[in-house]
Amino acid sequence: MTALLEVVGLTAHYGDFQALFGVDLSLEAGETVAIIGANGAGKSTLMRAITGVARVTGGCVRLCGEAIDTLGAPDILVRGIAMVPEGRCLFPSLTVEKISGSAPMPARAAAIGGWSASTTSFRSCARPERPGTALSGGQQQMVAIAGR
Ligand SMILES: Nc1ncnc2c1ncn2[C@@H]1O[C@H](COP(=O)(O)OP(=O)(O)OP(=O)(O)O)[C@@H](O)[C@H]1O
Ligand SMILES: [Mg+2]
Repeated sequence: MTALLEVVGLTAHYGDFQALFGVDLSLEAGETVAIIGANGAGKSTLMRAITGVARVTGGCVRLCGEAIDTLGAPDILVRGIAMVPEGRCLFPSLTVEKISGSAPMPARAAAIGGWSASTTSFRSCARPERPGTALSGGQQQMVAIAGR
């Protein structure tokens, strides 16, 4: 069976500095994978490489069998892969509904209240009219995910 996401021998550089040395990863539909490592080990760089933000210099990334490591970040984004940064980066002037308005229905519904998606662990009591920043830390993170 073709993996949903497959990373094979991935290397990435910042200029001359090599940050990733042949990373392998396989993710099936419905599976959650945690990347654990010391500060500076390359976790964020791996996410940046998968999402097309960091320069991939070797190996490949496949989404449902399609090589995406040669695509730019916008083309990877429209295929459904996005990175939610550690900082939530929500604007206080935007409500929960505005932030999550363009998100796919399951994520949006989860963010704006009371609905638990079977394919995710989203669960929120966030009210849609509230500013995104007027929520608990975890609820803000859910809204940030829905807005990506
Ligand atoms: N923009 C950059 N330019 C040059 N080197 C970078 C850049 N970003 C990260 N690095 C270097 O690449 C390596 C991997 O960094 P990365 O940010 O991927 O680590 P990390 O595992 O996410 O760390 P942390 O747990 O601290 O977030 C580190 O040695 C880091 O100093
Ligand atoms: Mg990091």
